[in-house]
Amino acid sequence: MRSFTYILLFASSAAAIWPQPVRYDHSDTVLFVKKDVPFYWYEAGARNVGSMADQFPFVFASNSNTGPNPQDNNRLKIRKQYTEPSLSENAENGTQGGVSGDEIIDFAIVSAWKTIFKHNLYPWKFHPRNWDEPSPNQGETTYISRIDIKLISTDPSNVAKPLAGEVDESYSLTLTQEGLATISANTSVGIAHGLTTFTQLFYAHSDGKNFYTPLAPVTIYDAPKFQHRGINMDVARAWFSTSDIKRQIDACAYNKMNRFHLHVTDSQSWPLEIPSMPELSAKGAYRPDLVYTAEDFQHIQRYAAIQGVEMITEIDMPGHTSSIHYAFPDLIAAFNIQPHWDTYAAEPPSGTLKLNSTAVYDFLDKLLDDLLPRVYPYSSYFHTGGDEVNKNAYMFDDTVKSNSSAILQPLMQKFVDRNHDQVRALGLTPVVWEEMLLDWNVTLGPDVIVQSWQSDEAVAQIVAKGHKALVGNYNYWYLDCGKGQWLDFDPSSSADAWPYYDYCAPFHNWRLIYAYDPLSGVPEENQHLVIGGEAHMWAEQTDPINIDRMIWPRGSAVAEVLWSGAKDSEGRNRSQIDASPRLSEMRERLVGLGVGAEPIQMPYCTMEGTVCQLGYTG
Ligand SMILES: *[C@@H]1O[C@H](CO)[C@@H](O)[C@H](O)[C@H]1NC(C)=O
Ligand SMILES: *[C@@H]1O[C@H](CO)[C@@H](O)[C@H](O)[C@H]1NC(C)=O
Ligand SMILES: *[C@@H]1O[C@H](CO)[C@@H](O)[C@H](O)[C@H]1NC(C)=O
Ligand SMILES: *[C@@H]1O[C@H](CO)[C@@H](O)[C@H](O)[C@H]1NC(C)=O
Ligand SMILES: *[C@@H]1O[C@H](CO)[C@@H](O)[C@H](O)[C@H]1NC(C)=O
Ligand SMILES: *[C@@H]1O[C@H](CO)[C@@H](O)[C@H](O)[C@H]1NC(C)=O
Repeated sequence: MRSFTYILLFASSAAAIWPQPVRYDHSDTVLFVKKDVPFYWYEAGARNVGSMADQFPFVFASNSNTGPNPQDNNRLKIRKQYTEPSLSENAENGTQGGVSGDEIIDFAIVSAWKTIFKHNLYPWKFHPRNWDEPSPNQGETTYISRIDIKLISTDPSNVAKPLAGEVDESYSLTLTQEGLATISANTSVGIAHGLTTFTQLFYAHSDGKNFYTPLAPVTIYDAPKFQHRGINMDVARAWFSTSDIKRQIDACAYNKMNRFHLHVTDSQSWPLEIPSMPELSAKGAYRPDLVYTAEDFQHIQRYAAIQGVEMITEIDMPGHTSSIHYAFPDLIAAFNIQPHWDTYAAEPPSGTLKLNSTAVYDFLDKLLDDLLPRVYPYSSYFHTGGDEVNKNAYMFDDTVKSNSSAILQPLMQKFVDRNHDQVRALGLTPVVWEEMLLDWNVTLGPDVIVQSWQSDEAVAQIVAKGHKALVGNYNYWYLDCGKGQWLDFDPSSSADAWPYYDYCAPFHNWRLIYAYDPLSGVPEENQHLVIGGEAHMWAEQTDPINIDRMIWPRGSAVAEVLWSGAKDSEGRNRSQIDASPRLSEMRERLVGLGVGAEPIQMPYCTMEGTVCQLGYTG
């Protein structure tokens, strides 16, 4: 009730943090912040670091006003100080190796500074006409004196590429009335999340030169509900440049998502360079130049990891592989059968890796031996796909010549076992689509994460079998749905398809996405196995022109469900009336960051608080 009262009175002053923190208290003192506000990054562990201090040039005496807090000085040593920070030339691309916690903090401080001072929002859309904008007042204005960054524990060595739950993402944030900000966390990723939240406390003045928070003092404690929070982006059906992909990663990080699933190959194109088999992308990509080179691939993974976002690469197989045909026709059965492709595949062109072929096995050995060592520095996972395998395609497979489950099932078991053995041997944990477990009855290793997309019942079945599950029910979290058909219909069949709805219509409004509870239908004793989920952006009708608005801000609705949980602290479904102005503000912040996110309401609604609602009962 308290939060409703608050919203009715002050909805236009949004106080909007997205996703919603676990605990968030604030008041209404205005503090300004200047571009040269110092960030102090303190030594990890801090209490016994003596010799470490010599390695870093920014160890300060404690007697200046903007210097370290004297109370802390005995315990904590400053690791590094930043004013108007910028990234070094090679920070993004770095070296071939993985990403360290130090690099994550470094990147996060620079990002936070840029977000506050270069990409901030003038919040006119969240105040009524003629609102009283805070302005700096000579003499009376309080400025933020410094921002203290305290890593209070030691990062695990795999901080940038953990398995679910291995990194503590919690953080706490305080901002005193006097202008001292402190962000503490047990890991570098927690620090990055804290800095992200910090930026959301600030607004730009209409003069474009001043920046302030109207919310001091602030106290926040925050931690995610689910360990795996991601977007799945299909870059095979349509081509996206690396900068299009990086923009989605930026948006994931800003929504505190920690996974980015790259569905990088499919039947329509193979845009991923495999250096030991260059013809795969040279012939399988839409154009020989629409390829992610090995260098691009490394760069994308690193760009994600440095923001605390672990990339999960998927090579979908044995279905969804027709594009291999262009380089290696002998490996693919039932390629591009027309006109009745729909008997053999979910989408044209039909085609599937042969299921009992030593040539296919040799190919997969070579593929995974090439690719997985390049995934390993940045991820602990590899996704082997396994959705929508069409049995009829194996009638045309000269190594099988059958569509009988009894014949195909043992071959599929062997296919998956071989792949997963190799994934494990190269140090990674396999992820598969639900069909392998639930439709093909493949016995999977207990380590395998099973990604569900078809139903809540499927999630319940996956966890009942003891596997960790990722949710993403297409009725809620498929972002491609509701645009209508992309197939063309012959006049003889167009009447049946009228008015051309797609299979997963309607369009999933953010409210529908937000209403999805990953735990619904899962008995309490198995809920710990639901490690999180992903929103899916399939690219039949999405390309660089509309990708941003297709994912954002609806992906933010997914991010809040996964970070904050579908229910509030009192166990009630989260309220759209509470979320809507915050999501609108998040949308403005994403736009400021260069992400073309769609509006969710007209300014009238966000300017006037809760006027755009139906059925409100107080
Ligand atoms: C850090 O770890 C401690 C001990 O496990 C825990 O109590 C705390 O909530 C964690 N997070 C923060 C932000 O301190
Ligand atoms: C990083 O690598 C990418 C792709 O290899 C390249 O396009 C980009 O210019 C590089 N960035 C920097 C800062 O070197
Ligand atoms: C699979 O291939 C092997 C070797 O060619 C053959 O002996 C076996 O009969 C095949 N299995 C099926 C189910 O066709
Ligand atoms: C297998 O093929 C036969 C003959 O084409 C067909 O009648 C049957 O429905 C197919 N079975 C499956 C499981 O698709
Ligand atoms: C998996 O098991 C179910 C239930 O026993 C069965 O209906 C289905 O045909 C099996 N699938 C395969 C591919 O064997
Ligand atoms: C809460 O949301 C669930 C869907 O996740 C819905 O089934 C249920 O009816 C809602 N409860 C209330 C009280 O509105």
